[in-house]
Amino acid sequence: MRTQVAIIGGGPSGLLLSQLLNRAGIETVVLERQSRAHVLSRIRAGVLERCTVDLLNQAGAGARMQREGYPHDGCYLSSDQKMIRVDFQEACGHTVMVYGQTEVTRDLYDAQDALGATHIHGVENVVLHDLKGAAPSVTWDKDGESFRLECDFIAGCDGFHGVSRRSIPDNMRREYEKVYPFGWLGVLSETPPVRDELIYANHPRGFALASMRNPMLSRYYIQVPLSDKAEDWSDDAFWTELKARLPQDVAADLVTGASIEKSIAPLRSFVSEPLRWGALFLCGDAAHIVPPTGAKGLNLATSDVHYLSQGLLAHYNDNDPSGLDSYSQKALARIWKAMRFSWSVTTMMHRFPEHSEYDRQMQRVELDMLATDPTARKLFAENYTGTPL
Ligand code: FAD
Ligand code: DHB
Repeated sequence: MRTQVAIIGGGPSGLLLSQLLNRAGIETVVLERQSRAHVLSRIRAGVLERCTVDLLNQAGAGARMQREGYPHDGCYLSSDQKMIRVDFQEACGHTVMVYGQTEVTRDLYDAQDALGATHIHGVENVVLHDLKGAAPSVTWDKDGESFRLECDFIAGCDGFHGVSRRSIPDNMRREYEKVYPFGWLGVLSETPPVRDELIYANHPRGFALASMRNPMLSRYYIQVPLSDKAEDWSDDAFWTELKARLPQDVAADLVTGASIEKSIAPLRSFVSEPLRWGALFLCGDAAHIVPPTGAKGLNLATSDVHYLSQGLLAHYNDNDPSGLDSYSQKALARIWKAMRFSWSVTTMMHRFPEHSEYDRQMQRVELDMLATDPTARKLFAENYTGTPL
């Protein structure tokens, strides 16, 4: 079997890359370890930056998002019963779109089906070969048989636990990592959102986030110790804790109900450099992880895909290698900005076991600057709605 670009991983980055390339006449094969149903059942991100919205439209996968997504002009940060609103439109002239990652993935699968794209699900033991040589290829097993795919390039879109990053020799990679001493317990419930915009809450009991998917689907998170297990949190215990962390007038309006999903995600910042090794290019969570506080994970994955697709198009259409040669550097410049933003919002909004009264005072000053200083609000809004590509 042969293709131009082998894509490992059929999550948002692999699907978007395949879609952008196929529309430009470049052949791809997507190799995904899980079933499509499994990929579509994962509840993850919910906020799309303007660049992600533009890319989905450009990929021909944005029509349902335009109809059913919710543009948001601002968000709230709460602390000590105060609500600070950052008006993105006023501060920087941009907005975000509330539209779940599950829906993005579904739209990309539908768009890929319409193009007759090749996706192989249920692959096991994926191995990347000859990345620095003249004949790169990928092998895998499926249903007891072994397969080989020859290709020009391999896109490693297989997430943090995938095989692609680990195919770059250890002595050729540099890793940067910060592991936070807590996780987020997330609940999805068929209840109306407590407010029409997101609320990020700093509270002595820990961080909380009130988010949403649509007028009858809410997504809430609370900071929990890493030792907690989702199954040990009853719905009642979750709602009681969430109410305690939201400002009292907001908590009074909270409509509770049965959870339809409940899971814990640990918080981590991670970058592996470089993003290119010979014929292999890493995209999305395969190369970097951000704590979810800035809503950047999915958005960074799509900006990587933008830079890589541009590089591949220039290579195939104009025989111009410059986009591929500069991919790692260009993508990393944007990744590190999002790393800084995610780290700073995480630090401003969470309770850290090691924090002193001094650290707490720093959080108060940061929040106070957002409440009173238009320059601080502009910086926050520009980063939240997404730095330009
Ligand atoms: P992934 O979505 O991880 O997709 C990688 C794909 O590769 C998967 O489908 C996987 O099955 C497949 N794969 C893995 N290994 C192999 C292999 N060896 N062979 C073939 N296929 C393989 N971001 C936010 O902005 N907000 C959030 O609230 C948020 N919550 C999250 C919660 C969790 C539990 C996790 C894990 C992530 C969360 N993120 C969130 C981050 C966001 O979901 C990711 O940044 C985004 O999914 C990245 O997309 P991706 O395609 O690069 O990687
Ligand atoms: C959601 C997740 C985030 O990490 C975030 O910052 C905002 C919203 C969500 O799942 O809705």
